[in-house]
Amino acid sequence: MATNRTFTMIKPDAYQAGNSGAIIKMIEEAGFRIVAAKLTRLTPERAGEFYAVHKERPFYKDLCSYMSSGPIIAMILEKDNAVADFRKLIGATNPANAEPGTIRKLFAKSIEANAIHGSDSDENAAIEGAFFFSGMEQF
Ligand code: RTP
Ligand code: MG
Repeated sequence: MATNRTFTMIKPDAYQAGNSGAIIKMIEEAGFRIVAAKLTRLTPERAGEFYAVHKERPFYKDLCSYMSSGPIIAMILEKDNAVADFRKLIGATNPANAEPGTIRKLFAKSIEANAIHGSDSDENAAIEGAFFFSGMEQF
């Protein structure tokens, strides 16, 4: 997988609040191109699979119910240095610690309901993209 792609989800709180359009506008204005997009909803089981890396963490059960509480928008994004640049655009996990102007500072409600996901490595970007989309090689 090329290092110029990352994977994101607009999380249930941001979708429910009607912030998807504003968030996608910020993503595009930051220079990311949307190469795949899907409005969908995770079951608690699929949310658990997606966040399996956190299964021993105290917040895992809550995270699975939150991530399955409503629709999400999954997207694959393309830009040079996509993973790192996107993590910068979304800001810290806890919006209280997020830089001004970041997506989480602007739209997150809490450390859990924090508006958006961003892959943390090229390897995970490829795995997470494949979790939602197939046949992406042609784009
Ligand atoms: P993400 O994977 O969603 O992009 O978020 P992240 O890398 O910034 O944070 P991570 O440590 O991977 O945590 C995954 C998601 O779990 C929820 N969380 N809740 N209650 C808590 O203390 C807590 N900590 C994390 C958040 O939704 C976080 O984004
Ligand atoms: Mg993470």
